[in-house]
Amino acid sequence: MFDLTSRTALVTGGGQNIGAGIAQMLATAGARVLVNDLRAERAENIVADIVENGGQATAVPFDVTDRDAVLAAVADFGPVDVLVANAGNGGAEDMLPKRFAETVPEDWQGPMEVNLLGVLYCCHAVLPGMVERGHGRIIAISSAAGTHGVGIGFAPYSVGKGGALSLLRSLALEHGRDGITANSVALGVMDSVREETVAAFRKVIPVGRLGTPDDVAAACLWLASDEASWVTGQTIGLNGGAFTS
Ligand SMILES: NC(=O)c1ccc[n+]([C@@H]2O[C@H](COP(=O)([O-])OP(=O)(O)OC[C@H]3O[C@@H](n4cnc5c(N)ncnc54)[C@H](O)[C@@H]3O)[C@@H](O)[C@H]2O)c1
Repeated sequence: MFDLTSRTALVTGGGQNIGAGIAQMLATAGARVLVNDLRAERAENIVADIVENGGQATAVPFDVTDRDAVLAAVADFGPVDVLVANAGNGGAEDMLPKRFAETVPEDWQGPMEVNLLGVLYCCHAVLPGMVERGHGRIIAISSAAGTHGVGIGFAPYSVGKGGALSLLRSLALEHGRDGITANSVALGVMDSVREETVAAFRKVIPVGRLGTPDDVAAACLWLASDEASWVTGQTIGLNGGAFTS
């Protein structure tokens, strides 16, 4: 088991599903987890669950697309040793029912703001403290939409996800000598898709199942650990073999 005792981890969008799974696993490994979510009650529920299981956690509700709120939260609850930039809409809500040529600029804002600017603001807020302490782990929860593209209606989401993983590559280069690593995990189809599509996806995923929050959390735990200090600037595909690299 990787040991995160004495580390503080900020998990954005940690109030449900994948982010909640990550928050819970990092807490089990000993981290003090700052559970962020736009929806305070979701963050509080996950905090209650972590504390009930003997972990340490604090609910830190804010909107990752509000830069002032991000800065205030990091100033109030930091310093942050591990940032997991997970907040997003699970992909589906960011799918537009039209091709890019038929969109208007207002359509691009939501997917670009949360998936790109949200990651940018959080990284920018936590980095100075990480540099000062000579240690940090930054992990972005990206998507095959950002590495490969996943179909009609996802162009702005893909730009957001691809932009964020590109940012993390740059941070890896800039901060390699500061003890800071920056990596992304690019997810394939997760088990939160609509019930009626599960069987169809199972057929085309080589390992024969959809991804779970624990699949993602396990990768984040490793990337957050001291043992992964030589892994930086990488985008790791978690997709059951659906997108080979
Ligand atoms: N579910 C999938 O199939 C899938 C696939 C590829 C990538 N991803 C990525 O994984 C991440 C998590 O996905 P999920 O399925 O758990 O999503 P989800 O929608 O189930 O949960 C996301 C959480 O983030 C919160 N959130 C949304 N916007 C926020 C904001 N601006 N500030 C703070 N919190 C905010 C929501 O309130 C919610 O609790 C996302 O970045 C998503 O793009 C998901």
